[in-house]
Amino acid sequence: MDFSYTEEQQLIQKTAREFAQEHLAPGVIERDEKAEFPKEQLKLLGELGFMGMMIPEEWGGAGLDTISFCIAMEEICAVDASMGVIMSVNNSLVCQLLYKYANDDQRDKYLKKLASGEWLGAFSLSEPQSGSDASNMLTFAKNNGDHYIINGTKNWVSNGISCDIAIVFLMTEKGIGHKGISAFIVEKGTVGFSHGKKEDKLGIRGSDTCELYFEDCNVSAENLIGEEGKGFKIALGTLDGGRIGIASQALGIARSALDRSVEYANERKQFGKTIGSFGAIQDKIATIATNVDASRMLIHKAAKLKDVGKPFSKEAAMAKVFASQTAMDAATDCVQIFGGYGYMQEYGVERLMRDAKITQIYEGTSEIQQLVIARSVLGD
Ligand code: CAA
Repeated sequence: MDFSYTEEQQLIQKTAREFAQEHLAPGVIERDEKAEFPKEQLKLLGELGFMGMMIPEEWGGAGLDTISFCIAMEEICAVDASMGVIMSVNNSLVCQLLYKYANDDQRDKYLKKLASGEWLGAFSLSEPQSGSDASNMLTFAKNNGDHYIINGTKNWVSNGISCDIAIVFLMTEKGIGHKGISAFIVEKGTVGFSHGKKEDKLGIRGSDTCELYFEDCNVSAENLIGEEGKGFKIALGTLDGGRIGIASQALGIARSALDRSVEYANERKQFGKTIGSFGAIQDKIATIATNVDASRMLIHKAAKLKDVGKPFSKEAAMAKVFASQTAMDAATDCVQIFGGYGYMQEYGVERLMRDAKITQIYEGTSEIQQLVIARSVLGD
């Protein structure tokens, strides 16, 4: 098994790392404090080809493999996890979904703009009463021949305010469970489609999250993705890939916690010695380093399986549950190693702890990942 990166992957890592240092590191603490969306930086990231990394060039993307996407995500999120989720949603939940399930007219109209970074997309599945139990949705799209009339509310939509289009999962037939769910493309500016306030969040505060409202909103039947009733499988199939992206986000946060901890442990002196010479600190750093490596291996395994067209749901769930726990533990230990300084905003490590938490919640909670893994292992 070859663990080294190809020349192309090394170049992507270098490009992402330099971009993050040059364009994301300055102002990352202020953007977090003010909950400011990184609009200018996002434009530059799109110009680098990082918003449609896994989409073939003919559809506006960069034509790279999933491991390249994971490498870029790790580097971006090591500096700014808010930018990471904006990038992950567009790449893996929006562009990948359109590439895999949309028809050529839809790809031509939407995918090219989204993959090239000209437009930004959102993915809207959850509703106030349906989070983990995702198929229990109420928002209804009534088939009226050449168009659908949509009514209802979706929530926790990442990129919901800044997006140009949203992929929205809606009930088209009641009483038949997930077989009544369909996927639609809804453009910003469509009459009857609006968004709520920007949610005030614990972490990833630079990204925007909001509710979406549909009030007698007319959407053309041309915007139905695939067939009626196939939406839930499209959502779950797409989320498998999304979970690799969020696992990479968690890895970036954990890697940053490791780098910051090592730097501080080698510099901070107490009792006449650097704190890195004490066993208690060494234990924490050894554990973080081991789990960071293990996370990366799980993520790259899931990515490789995806790239060669093999099933990867279980592996993506394993990568996400492990990397997100690693991020949470690593960030908490990093704050502990920094002591009183770690608790202060200006050192930038308390943000890692706040950002890490969401990786255990969105795109399927850790409890749901365990369910996916257990069902697969037990042969459900
Ligand atoms: N890919 C494709 N199809 C799948 C699938 C997958 N990975 N997993 C299951 N399916 C199919 C099943 O085969 C089944 O089809 P049939 O009825 O034809 O056999 C159908 O989907 C329903 O499957 P289940 O019976 O297993 O469904 P369930 O109701 O028990 O739920 C679940 C399964 C795993 C709990 C699922 O609901 C789930 O993953 N929930 C979490 C939802 C989630 O991740 N939400 C994230 C919101 S988006 C977000 O966070 C984005 C953001 O903003 C960052």
